[in-house]
Amino acid sequence: MQFQWYPGHMTKAKRAMQEDIKLIDVIIELVDARVPYSSKNPDIDQLANGKSRILLMNKYDLADNVITDEWIKYYENKGYFVAKVNSKNGRGVKVVHDIIQKACKEKIERDRKRGILNRPIRAMIVGIPNVGKSTFINSFAGKACTKTGNKPGVTRGKQWIKLNKSVELLDTPGILWPKFEDQQVGLNLAFIGSIKDELYNIYELSLLLIKYLIEAYPEVTAEFYDIENSTDEVQLLERIAERRGCIKSGAQIDYDKAAKYLVDDFRSGRMGQISLERPC
Ligand code: G4P
Repeated sequence: MQFQWYPGHMTKAKRAMQEDIKLIDVIIELVDARVPYSSKNPDIDQLANGKSRILLMNKYDLADNVITDEWIKYYENKGYFVAKVNSKNGRGVKVVHDIIQKACKEKIERDRKRGILNRPIRAMIVGIPNVGKSTFINSFAGKACTKTGNKPGVTRGKQWIKLNKSVELLDTPGILWPKFEDQQVGLNLAFIGSIKDELYNIYELSLLLIKYLIEAYPEVTAEFYDIENSTDEVQLLERIAERRGCIKSGAQIDYDKAAKYLVDDFRSGRMGQISLERPC
């Protein structure tokens, strides 16, 4: 299965982000904990231009905890401050305040030596579409926050959310584009639902997902649907179809319907906590 990518206004978005990054002290990048490599855009490394970096493994409630911890170590070794968060129910979100202080320790120290006290740290959220940026901002900012107006000369046209005395967050998240070249990345992003449905065939996608599950989580499909296990993707899909009553007129199996069930059950986490890639 080949994915067609539509870069759209990539260059424009990149330029806008470059400007925003000049205004901030720390970049908070969200990735999807099920695919911490595929949902991370390497271009941000170049755009970051020496700013402190925080990486949040969002939606960790949907990912395999053991593998998420491996990824945390992996990215910590690369110099990121890393944490796992569930923006939907708020778990892990509060800790991000402490992480920001840690990530900006040198900057705070530098300011202090220059006699600048209590200058708020400025942060920006970035991530690919659907990774949970808006949900995180709502959860992180909570109700207590106040929006600050435009400060002439410094933040013209920008809205900041004052989180507390020491942190301000840029109101608009930076939308990163996914990696374009790698087909496995495209596949992983389709599995988690970050690619428009029209861009792939649900039947083929479900077979590729089953193939992965047979290798990485051999029992999960059979257990979840309470069906006899198999190492054959099509056979498993047929068993799911029978179990879920996906039958068309003339007693034909409705493969697409069963495929949709499977992909939805995976995406929503109903099937269990499943990761799609491990650090190498
Ligand atoms: P974006 O701004 O980066 O585009 O993403 P957004 O916040 O709109 O979130 C995309 C989807 O991911 C939403 O689901 C949101 O609820 C879900 N989400 C965000 N963070 C988490 C998390 O930590 N765990 C889980 N399980 N889900 C998360 P949706 O189905 O589009 O909307 P809704 O029905 O949940 O409101």
